[in-house]
Amino acid sequence: MSFPKHITGLKDLSKDNIELILSEAQSYKDKLINNDRIEEILGGQSVINLFFENSTRTRISFELAEKLLGMKSVNFSANISSLSKGESEVDTIKNLDAMKFDYIVVRHNENGFYQKVIDNSSAKVINGGDGTNEHPTQGLLDMLTLKEIFGKLEGLKVCIIGNISHSRVARSNIYGLQKFGAEVSLCAPEVYLPDDIDELGVNVIDSMDEAVKSNDALILLRVQHERDAGKLLSSVEDYSQKYGMNEKRLGLNPDIKILHPGPWNEGVELDQFILDSPNFYGYKQVTNGVAVRLAVLKLLNSSD
Ligand code: CP
Repeated sequence: MSFPKHITGLKDLSKDNIELILSEAQSYKDKLINNDRIEEILGGQSVINLFFENSTRTRISFELAEKLLGMKSVNFSANISSLSKGESEVDTIKNLDAMKFDYIVVRHNENGFYQKVIDNSSAKVINGGDGTNEHPTQGLLDMLTLKEIFGKLEGLKVCIIGNISHSRVARSNIYGLQKFGAEVSLCAPEVYLPDDIDELGVNVIDSMDEAVKSNDALILLRVQHERDAGKLLSSVEDYSQKYGMNEKRLGLNPDIKILHPGPWNEGVELDQFILDSPNFYGYKQVTNGVAVRLAVLKLLNSSD
């Protein structure tokens, strides 16, 4: 089986390759949990984390994974770069390529921006989130989390709640989970449903109560104040009442598992009761994020 040179999205990644990543990630997860030594198999390789957008979980877990594998890891921060002197993003990429990085992890608010990195460098490129398109390593870590909880993905009923139209996490999960036979549905205010919903092969559930009752797991999405700018939602309080996860709703299906990619708005998508409940997997997802990024970095090393 050939492994691609770049990880750009789960839409274009084969089921076999996703399976390989999840299996490798599970081995790394076991090592992380047991404090077993992780072999520095990528010693001598260099990587730049090229983040044009802010990040806590993705950037830091990539950096940790890179260091655990022995890589020389460098971080780029847009706000202290020569972008502020007028240097273009493409020139920035070309200059970084001249430093001969082996890997580039890139996040940008433009859909498909990773292609500019691929076109202007010789590095192996990992998409750390592009606009509203995909966030493949988040999708993979969510799949790993669900697989750990349920032992399988096939036949699983997963509902994604909230700001789907602006969510790269939603798309990566839809593409990835469907490849493994999970039944993915959406529950969101009309303004948060994507224009291309008919092409996504998902059902829409009208009420949050129904979504809780009829699914095995929920993936709650953040209300993105920076993209919404108060234009889409009538009020955050109204959203919380209609779509927020809380103790009362948990009572409708006490076995339901709750995922959130973070960062979460406490009191909006979920409340403190949910954050403290055993049903909530947000922090376990973060651990799985390190495992998935270890696996992706390792497997890309063997690609052409
Ligand atoms: N889940 C996620 O992408 O979080 P960050 O924006 O903190 O990386």
